Amino acid sequence: MNGEGKVRGGFKAVPVTDRIFWVGAIDWELRDFHGYSTSRGSTYNAYLVLGEGNILFDAVKEPFFDEMMARIASVVDPSSIRAVVSNHAEMDHTGSLARLFEAAGPAQVLASASGVRNLDLQMGFHPAALSAVGDGLTASVCGLDLTFIETKMLHWPDSMFTFLPSMNTLVSQDAFGMHLATPELFAFENDPAILLAEAARYYANIIMPYSPLVLKLLDRAASIGLDPDLVLPDHGPVWKKGTSMPPSWIFGRYAHWASMKPTDKAVIVYDTMWHATEKMAHAIADGVSAGGAVPRVHPMKSSHRSDIAADLLEAGALVAGSPTINNGLFPTLSDICTYLKGLRRPDLVGSAFGSYGWSGESVKVLSELLAGMKVTQVGENIGIQFGPDAAQLDRCRAQGLAIAAAISGARG
Ligand code: FEO
Repeated sequence: MNGEGKVRGGFKAVPVTDRIFWVGAIDWELRDFHGYSTSRGSTYNAYLVLGEGNILFDAVKEPFFDEMMARIASVVDPSSIRAVVSNHAEMDHTGSLARLFEAAGPAQVLASASGVRNLDLQMGFHPAALSAVGDGLTASVCGLDLTFIETKMLHWPDSMFTFLPSMNTLVSQDAFGMHLATPELFAFENDPAILLAEAARYYANIIMPYSPLVLKLLDRAASIGLDPDLVLPDHGPVWKKGTSMPPSWIFGRYAHWASMKPTDKAVIVYDTMWHATEKMAHAIADGVSAGGAVPRVHPMKSSHRSDIAADLLEAGALVAGSPTINNGLFPTLSDICTYLKGLRRPDLVGSAFGSYGWSGESVKVLSELLAGMKVTQVGENIGIQFGPDAAQLDRCRAQGLAIAAAISGARG
């Protein structure tokens, strides 16, 4: 065996334990993951587990195939891999599987029933190579017991975890991960502030719509006494018990985020053409602040939707402003409202605002979008023709106060 040290580099495998090796890839270049701004890059984690035959848990995005193979080859002959466990059939983890089969010919791929269907559709594997595993099943694979736990819709229908009882280790696919390119393998070796920020961004942008399922999963884990020494996600660092960043830390963050409790933060998103809607946004923010809540102002010209999603993860209000253009919304507001609607953050209060030159449809359209997002609208939705005068700015401040009061009421 080769693979010394815990730093991921040099195309060498990195030992997690004496029988588990990280053989994935670091993507330093990634800045966009289907619309999610990944400003710190990412990793695609694949794990090689040594048994009587060897098992690969998940794989890497197709362009990183050679890196993965070099890392595997630094520990074992790749043809000794007898099984692949595919916990999640999204292409950042399955894109290189067809090439792995060509090069090394593993005997079988184990996946959930939905995962088997997806792999068949993606790659046209011969059905004999694919084995569906059921929820709760424990099977002996390469001399190791593996327990499969379906995590349907966290975050795809095919998603599952694999637990290795003899190693007290959970392989958790996307869950408990983050987009963070870092050479340090273990979470405790990384800056905790960065881990918190990136784990929250990941939760907000990928996991948040499925928060009720997260709560059920955490309950189930507690009921079966799951208390792993190691959690191996498909992105970002590994969580290790007995360190400053153990599995219980990320489990606790997930329990907190999934509870979706409103906070005193009011997220204000807006765009502007001639600064009128901008002045309204600032006056509403003044009112929110005067009312004892915390405004988070996001001008859409310089804010990314995934940063706004991260802010909304722990918020109590969403206030949206747009000028009227061509009888409708400014396009950036259509973008952010569409994105946030899909993330399904519940229990928000909010309102709409905007300036207009003559027809003024934007406030009504925004109000309808907020209603579609189940945001409880409070106070008044404010449309102002051209720039706001002093009295109209006072109206906006009063609306900010109303938002702060509603947040306070919602929090009890
Ligand atoms: Fe990392 Fe859902 O793929």
